Amino acid sequence: MKKTVLAFSRITAPMVERLQQDFNVIVPNPKLGDIAAQFNDALPEAHGLIGVGRKLGRAQLENAAKLEVVSSVSVGYDNYDLAYFNERGLALTNTPDVLTESTADLGFALIMSAARRTAELDAWTKAGQWQATVGPAQFGSDVFGKTLGIVGLGNIGAAIARRGRFGFNMPVIYAGNSRKEALEQELGARHVSLEQLLAEADFVCLVVPLSAQTKHLIGAEQLRQMKRSAFLINISRGPVVDEAALVEALQNGVIRGAGLDVYEKEPLTESPLFALSNAVTLPHVGSATAETREAMANRAIDNLRAALLGERPRDLVNPQVWK
Ligand code: DGY
Repeated sequence: MKKTVLAFSRITAPMVERLQQDFNVIVPNPKLGDIAAQFNDALPEAHGLIGVGRKLGRAQLENAAKLEVVSSVSVGYDNYDLAYFNERGLALTNTPDVLTESTADLGFALIMSAARRTAELDAWTKAGQWQATVGPAQFGSDVFGKTLGIVGLGNIGAAIARRGRFGFNMPVIYAGNSRKEALEQELGARHVSLEQLLAEADFVCLVVPLSAQTKHLIGAEQLRQMKRSAFLINISRGPVVDEAALVEALQNGVIRGAGLDVYEKEPLTESPLFALSNAVTLPHVGSATAETREAMANRAIDNLRAALLGERPRDLVNPQVWK
């Protein structure tokens, strides 16, 4: 008998067809009423879940008696209670690698946009404010040759660093728990403490996963340690930054600006950030290109399929549960 898969987001019709070759597939449909209720009703029959953007732990999965695997269409897995998954022997998979370059592109786009004020000046031009040659009030900051500080030199951090080092001649410094000697060689990167990075970098780029250790890694004190001319770029997870402290720092000129893709609460529908011309605010689009989202969904399907057919999935987050 076919196992049952509950696909709760980011799975398109052709992907459902792909899954249907091996599984019964349930997709909650907004036209049929409350999505959350449909999800909960289907849960007891599901052997596998696939999607992203749902917090899943004991409270949500209590009734999922047959569940074997959750395949997340994301590289980050802070939405899942890993201790609970391990206790229950539930496999969790993610989608690394396929989103590295597009997410790094977006990180660099935020660097450029914050420094050269592209979003702000675009709105200014469209508002008919360009009445004479621009002056210092419209000037931005240089990127070429400035110091790039990467907090968390993983795959995405390294891809941003490559763009900075080889495209923009930027000296690269990085902070993190472990030394990356191969990347130090390749990029001429220097491993420094977080304090040193904050004091030296012109662009502080956050690319760490969210964990108990990285929650509010950047607060009022860390923002004060940055140069007044520096920019904070966050493409990791919102809670890595104390957002209220950031707003205050941006309002008071403690730092020059910020480029943000992630927030403490998403979606961000209202925020003091919206009133700040020195904050670029994007709607969590690091991996949001057509090609990358398709690659992520396919990778997540591969992982789910493997796990439910008894093969070890390629991207197992918690290998200790795999027997
Ligand atoms: C991820 O994959 O973790 C990105 O944030 C997109 O959701």
